[in-house]
Amino acid sequence: MASPHSATRRRITVLGTGYLGTAHAACLADLGFEVLGVDVSPARIEALTRGELPFYEPGLEPLLQAGLASGRLSFSTSYAAAAAFGDVHFVCVGTPQREGAYAADLSQLTACIDALGPLLDRPCLVTGKSTVPVGTAAMLAGRLAALVPTADTCELAWNPEFLREGHAVQDTLRPDRIVAGVQSGRGEAILREVYADPIAAGRPFLATDLATAELVKVAANAFLATKISFINAMAEVCEAAHADVMTLSEALGHDPRIGRAALRPGLGFGGGCLPKDIRAFMARAEELGVEPAVSFLREVDGINMRRRARMVDLARELAGGSFEGRTVGVLGVAFKPDSDDIRDSPALDVAATIHGLGASVSVYDPAAMSHARRAHPELAFACSATEAVTGADVTLLLTEWQEFRDADPEKLGEAVARRNIVDGRNALDAARWRAAGWHCRALGRPLPDRRGAKGRPAGAA
Ligand code: UGA
Repeated sequence: MASPHSATRRRITVLGTGYLGTAHAACLADLGFEVLGVDVSPARIEALTRGELPFYEPGLEPLLQAGLASGRLSFSTSYAAAAAFGDVHFVCVGTPQREGAYAADLSQLTACIDALGPLLDRPCLVTGKSTVPVGTAAMLAGRLAALVPTADTCELAWNPEFLREGHAVQDTLRPDRIVAGVQSGRGEAILREVYADPIAAGRPFLATDLATAELVKVAANAFLATKISFINAMAEVCEAAHADVMTLSEALGHDPRIGRAALRPGLGFGGGCLPKDIRAFMARAEELGVEPAVSFLREVDGINMRRRARMVDLARELAGGSFEGRTVGVLGVAFKPDSDDIRDSPALDVAATIHGLGASVSVYDPAAMSHARRAHPELAFACSATEAVTGADVTLLLTEWQEFRDADPEKLGEAVARRNIVDGRNALDAARWRAAGWHCRALGRPLPDRRGAKGRPAGAA
């Protein structure tokens, strides 16, 4: 909702219009601020200016279009325009994993500061939102101070973002908490103004130093990754002990000290954040001389990658011991549902590995097809779930889109060659699928009975 006070509000720029930046820009415009989104990609800026979201994110495109229509939201490729426009500059550029290393690649951040700094000739707060190794903000503050013409009126702050893809709008408008790493009372006051609405709605606001703010984000993602790998480690134990990790997870989650979130066992975590963030954390801890403090993250990463290998093994087992000459239908390639993001996607990794082992692999995803096709042109791309599994010896559910959860096992059963399915996300009602004659396996769950004429592993007698 637009605020009646919009005319008096500070003007905001958002530098970098990926998931984070676009969501932040559209949500701040929705809160009544005048916002200028800036990106170095002219194609991206043109699309956004037309009201087209260059990626899939539920609920964000209407907000983008409303912002444009209100006149409060606009886009540009010009840093000079950004410097002239903004009282607060949010830096939302990417910090991917560095090629061939665990550490983060900070080149987009430094390029952004280097381009903006010399143009900042009026009072402003430059606020980083990207996920960074602790110490980056202090480094950038020094760099900025050396570049700006009026050093005493330009300050750097760090305000990490905790939004999840697929929930970007809700997480931005109603954040669990707002963390403001600041160097002065002035910096804190400005960020309190920007977040006045969520603060008034009772969202916690924590003012802190730069380093703590950076670490909150990295530690939060490390904790989430650890929790996911914990339950997936339990899945490994369950498989060996013939126990059921889904019931285990539910029972653990009822303990309020543990909680249910990030405790869904399955194929593990992927995406553009958790995997690279835990690796960058390890690299940074080593630089700081405290490598042992986070060495457990190596195991967290290892458990996560082992789930992918286990998925391939289960699929091979159901394919009759070898993928040669077999057809595998894959449901889902995005790293999670409600996203078209395939960065470090466990699903796509498994699909490509199985193709590499000799199977003919046909995939379908409701949103991520074009990205997946570009990354793995060797796979076959189907137009629907039914087409993807047509003639399949084994079907794999790898991303738990609602469409796949709701799929009719009878209808899909008519399309496949053999009713074999591995539920990589523990998302299906196994009893329902087994009732339809499917041989249904899942990560971390006990072996099923093997009733059903078409439900035997391919090649089984
Ligand atoms: C994650 C964090 O959840 C956000 O708080 C953070 O802001 C964001 O990274 C970021 O650093 O920008 P996101 O990558 O969008 O958000 O995805 P999540 O919903 O956390 O899921 C990450 C991965 O873990 C997915 O592959 C998902 O399938 C998997 N996952 C998640 C599980 O396997 N089990 C779970 O219980 C939860």
